[in-house]
Amino acid sequence: MLSKRRYDRGVSEPFVLRPMMEADLDTVEAIEEASDLPRRSPEARREELGDERTRGVVLEAGGAVVGVGSLWLAPDAAHITSLAVAGEARRRGHGRRLVTALVALAGSLGLEAVTLEVRASNGAARALYAGCGFEEVGERRRYYADGEDAVIMTLALDDDGRAGSAARG
Ligand SMILES: CC(C)(COP(=O)(O)OP(=O)(O)OC[C@H]1O[C@@H](n2cnc3c(N)ncnc32)[C@H](O)[C@@H]1OP(=O)(O)O)[C@@H](O)C(=O)NCCC(=O)NCCS
Repeated sequence: MLSKRRYDRGVSEPFVLRPMMEADLDTVEAIEEASDLPRRSPEARREELGDERTRGVVLEAGGAVVGVGSLWLAPDAAHITSLAVAGEARRRGHGRRLVTALVALAGSLGLEAVTLEVRASNGAARALYAGCGFEEVGERRRYYADGEDAVIMTLALDDDGRAGSAARG
């Protein structure tokens, strides 16, 4: 008999990826906070939604928002500022779908790369990003308030907005 984990991963449940809207903000906050991502005020979240330098996406499955991702757009690169999947919806491919959507969005905007910082201890996220083609290109010592180091990961995009290699020069 299949274990629950294999069963969950083997079934492709319907999902929808769409831009984040104001009506999503309470759910987004709940998912991010349950995932130990940095707290942000409701006002800051609303301002971000209206800021043309940011883009937010949500993933709906089973009739509810279960995943969130955000980009901050710098002149050449997009920075993943938030990525989280609700605990009960993890290990079903939603994290990878969100990263793929954020990368495609950055590519469609003509940006040259996608970058992010991730906690050194966050093996799940590091594995997810590596599986999406990101390379570990450096670290920021004591980047987080609790003193933990961040690993910097980068994915270069080619002229067509597709994922290339971080080592591209
Ligand atoms: C990181 C996170 C977004 C992954 O979401 P998810 O929906 O479970 O990820 P997926 O099911 O798409 O998994 C994709 C790959 O990520 C890696 N991965 C995900 N969870 C993992 C875990 N617990 N341990 C090891 N690898 C893991 C695996 O390589 C996996 O591929 P596989 O299923 O073929 O083995 C989720 O664990 C999360 O929300 N964590 C808390 C918030 C966070 O850390 N955000 C990142 C901030 S930079």
